[in-house]
Amino acid sequence: MAGNAAMAATPPGQTLANANACMGCHAVNRKLVGPSFQQIASKYKDDPQATAKLSQKIKRGGAGVWGSIPMPAHPSMSDANIRVLVDWVMAGSPAK
Ligand code: HEC
Repeated sequence: MAGNAAMAATPPGQTLANANACMGCHAVNRKLVGPSFQQIASKYKDDPQATAKLSQKIKRGGAGVWGSIPMPAHPSMSDANIRVLVDWVMAGSPAK
């Protein structure tokens, strides 16, 4: 599964998650330091404020939703990139 075709098919959300070290604390399907992206998608699936809440959490950081370990702030990430990441997480973090 290597080569240019596979690379071109990598979703931007996954690329951004790798590029911004999100995967040092998160995995798609198991808890690491933070909750898995699948846990997050399932918790917020019926929440109309999910995009706003999760975008704010990535930008400003914070703790208390999943436990006492804080999620670090990412103040230098663009709102557009954060939106791509949130949409990717809420879509179930598809890997291609
Ligand atoms: C140093 C470890 C660490 C890094 C790096 C990290 N996170 Fe987190 N993340 C956490 C922890 C811990 C939580 C749980 C925070 C809480 O309980 O409120 C969390 C929570 C979240 C949540 C759920 C927020 C909520 O309020 O339910 C999302 C979405 C998220 N992270 C996305 C990301 C993305 C995207 C990145 C990369 C830009 C990232 N995280 C990088 C540790 C991390």
